This record gives sequence, structure tokens and C-alpha cells, in this order.
Amino acid sequence: MNILVFGKDGQLGRAFQNHFKHSQFGIGNTICFVGRSDCDLCSTTQITQLLEDFGPHLIINAAAYTAVDRAESESNIAFAVNAIAPQVMAKYAVQHGGTLLHFSTDYVFDGVKGGTYSEVDKTNPLSVYGKSKEAGEIAIANAFSGTANQRGQYAILRTSWVYGVGGNFIRTILRLAKERSALRVIDDQYGVPTSTAWLAELACNLTLEDGRLRKFTSGIYHAIPPGETNWYGVARLAIQAAIDFGWQLKASPNEITPIPTSEYPLPAPRPMNSRLSRNKLQIELERLALVSKLPHWNTPWDEQVRAYVKHLDAN
Ligand SMILES: NC(=O)c1ccc[n+]([C@@H]2O[C@H](COP(=O)([O-])OP(=O)(O)OC[C@H]3O[C@@H](n4cnc5c(N)ncnc54)[C@H](OP(=O)(O)O)[C@@H]3O)[C@@H](O)[C@H]2O)c1
Repeated sequence: MNILVFGKDGQLGRAFQNHFKHSQFGIGNTICFVGRSDCDLCSTTQITQLLEDFGPHLIINAAAYTAVDRAESESNIAFAVNAIAPQVMAKYAVQHGGTLLHFSTDYVFDGVKGGTYSEVDKTNPLSVYGKSKEAGEIAIANAFSGTANQRGQYAILRTSWVYGVGGNFIRTILRLAKERSALRVIDDQYGVPTSTAWLAELACNLTLEDGRLRKFTSGIYHAIPPGETNWYGVARLAIQAAIDFGWQLKASPNEITPIPTSEYPLPAPRPMNSRLSRNKLQIELERLALVSKLPHWNTPWDEQVRAYVKHLDAN
């Protein structure tokens, strides 16, 4: 089977490279990891050429335009990468009866709802990035629903506050805690950090089994670990974990001042509530008898962040 992974140099793309290298999913498949220098996702010609040349049975789109604030002034690029490119991938998968695995974001919601968002809740993105990701979701769903003889299948995994190999909030906070004795962190935006390793393991199991494509129910799923917090909570936990693992930091958790979003203005507005419900994916994983094959599915976010910090280089 041919598997094509876009976004090889991103946080999630690197997690897929690692997972395919160290799991049974890498065995017996021809896997092609592509980055920006192999295929510019702003070019539909380059994407189509690559798809035709390689002939993937499974397309994993781990690439995205993720510069949330820059997107406010680069909406053409954000929409090209986050909406048009996935549409090209989706049309190819439909035509060839393949599977498309795509990723989206909590930023498709406006965050005014109390409690958790489910997959059927109305989207209302606040930012250009959120709008471009929403457009990608719609383009994929339309491509798969528009065919008379429906072929192929897709999963869009909406996730939040991603961390892995690469730049992310946790690494930024730990760097700042080395440089400064006092930090200010927002405490009124709620959500949950999601590990790319956790996400890649989940995604591979959902789409693949015993050397072939797994049949699952097409649609959008919220893919996040259990629990919830705010950015201040993440910062406190990461710094405490680093101290526990012997890091030399200037700031301790008690030197972090919680601040409201209004005191940290950014070009792109963020949803105040990014809590996503796991119920739909839980039910699908149970139906596919996958829960027991995913040892970390129920591991709470704080345990996962501690484990992540443990494996970061203290220097
Ligand atoms: N990061 C988060 O907090 C977060 C939260 C919720 C959802 N998500 C979603 O999760 C998925 C993975 O995010 P991530 O954090 O792994 O993103 P990331 O680290 O920013 O990686 C994105 C990758 O896409 C590539 N890319 C961007 N524009 C491209 C173009 N024109 N042509 C080819 N490649 C291009 C980038 O290439 P370069 O390396 O060359 O720049 C990068 O390797 C995305 O769908 C994102 O929307 C992320």
C-alpha cells in the first residue's frame, strides 16, 4: 500500500515519521514523506502531479499554514494551504477510492459556548486561520459527499494546543523560565494540550489495520486527551515538571502571574473556550475494538505533558 504524508517537517509530520519507523504500520507499506521543498501546497499543479505520480491509497495531511497571527495579513496563502490543498487531496481520494486523513482545529469555534464542543456544534471561527481551516473541513466533506457512487473515506481530526518536536507553547514557556524570573500567562482561555505522538498513534490505528486500510465511519472527530486546563495551568505544570526533572530555571510555578487575555493582545483573536468533547471518537474507537490497542487514549493531558518534558533536553 502507498501512503503519502504531507508536512514531514512539522510537529505532527515528525510524529508520523517516528510512529511509522517504530510501529508495525511502517512494515510492508511504501511511505512517502513530503515537505515544502518536495511539494508547495500553494500549487495545485504540484499537488496533483505528486498524487498522480505516487498513487497513494492513504493520504495523511499533516501540513497546514499554522501561523495564526500572520494569517490575518496572509489570508490568500492560509486559504491556499488550509482549504484548497486539502480539497485537491480529497478529490483525488474520492476518484481513486482512497482514504484521506486530515487535521483541523478548535479555532473553528468562537469559544462562547459553555462546556465542551461536539462535532455537530456550529462553527464560527474568529480568525483568518480558523476560517481557512473551516473552509478545508467543508471542502473535504463536500468532495466526499458529492459523488453518486461514493468511494473512499475521510477522517478530519480536530485537535487543540498541539506539542511535539518543534516550536510550541510548552517549549517557549520553558525557554522563558530559563531566561526570566517572572512570567505572565493567560488564565482565561480553556482547552487541552495534545501530544503529536499521541495523535499519530491514534490516527494510524484509526486508518490502518494489518497492512490494509481500515474501514471507519467518515466524518469529523475531536481528537484530544482527557482533561482540561488553561494556558496558565499548562505553564505551571511544565515548569514544575522541568524542576522535578532537574532543570535549572529562574522562574518557579509561583513566579507565574495569571493574566486575562485582554492584557496580552495579539493580531488574531482566540476562542476563550476550546474544550472539545471526545464522545464521538470514543464511540467509533469502541465500535472498531480499538480502545484496548491504544494504551494512551485515556492518559490525561497532564501526565502526557510531564512525560514530554521529561524527554526534552534540559539544555
Ligand atoms: N499547532 C497547534 O497548536 C495546532 C492546534 C490545533 C490544530 N492544529 C492542526 O494540527 C495540524 C498539525 O499542526 P502542526 O503543529 O504539526 O503544524 P506545524 O508544526 O506548523 O507544521 C506544518 C507543516 O506544514 C508545512 N507547510 C506549510 N505551508 C506549506 C506549503 N505552502 N507547502 C508545503 N508545506 C507547507 C510546514 O512546512 P515548513 O516546515 O517548511 O514551514 C510545516 O512543516 C495542522 O492541521 C494544524 O492546523 C495545530
